[in-house]
Amino acid sequence: MLVNNAGIQNRIELAEDTADWNTRRQELVINVEAPIHLAMLLTPHLRQQARPAIINVTSGLSFAPAAFAPIYSATKAALHSFTLSLRHQLALIGIAVLEIVPPAVDTDLGGPGLHTFGVPVDDFADSVMARLAAGEQEVGYGTSEQARLASRAELDERFKQMNNR
Ligand SMILES: NC(=O)c1ccc[n+]([C@@H]2O[C@H](COP(=O)([O-])OP(=O)(O)OC[C@H]3O[C@@H](n4cnc5c(N)ncnc54)[C@H](OP(=O)(O)O)[C@@H]3O)[C@@H](O)[C@H]2O)c1
Repeated sequence: MLVNNAGIQNRIELAEDTADWNTRRQELVINVEAPIHLAMLLTPHLRQQARPAIINVTSGLSFAPAAFAPIYSATKAALHSFTLSLRHQLALIGIAVLEIVPPAVDTDLGGPGLHTFGVPVDDFADSVMARLAAGEQEVGYGTSEQARLASRAELDERFKQMNNR
């Protein structure tokens, strides 16, 4: 099994940003390039296993972006898209492709203290693992469950509420 969980999140004011491109590129490399590269590298190995699976960790922000994390949100939208194509293709060779879609979870993502508003990790993990074990392929929790199932009008509303300043 391959679990693509590693990810970073940077808060960026696009018009004011002074970071060099190599710094900014890290978010693309870690969040999108690495999971795609790893999936392609490991597919030959996984296809020889008894019950192979790839799990990609995306985000509720894959569906409606948080403007304060513009590159991060774009990477998660890209990884969600890639996951759909990967699932479609690898079904032919018996590799399951699963997607975990977290909401804000109380971890150190983005730096210590920034996600204290998120749901507790244990509650989130217990729910996700139970649903994956039951055979679901794409699993959210709370607000990210709403986001992944939302209509375009609901996502536009969510974008407005999330990015209200
Ligand atoms: N927390 C949330 O609110 C939230 C919401 C939606 C999606 N997610 C996603 O959930 C996943 C896990 O994040 P988290 O919330 O658990 O954040 P976290 O506590 O900051 O953990 C991030 C993990 O990514 C690893 N990582 C970062 N850069 C890496 C690199 N260059 N090479 C290898 N590993 C690297 C870190 O490893 P080290 O500890 O060794 O640095 C750490 O284990 C991420 O994909 C994130 O985007 C989180």
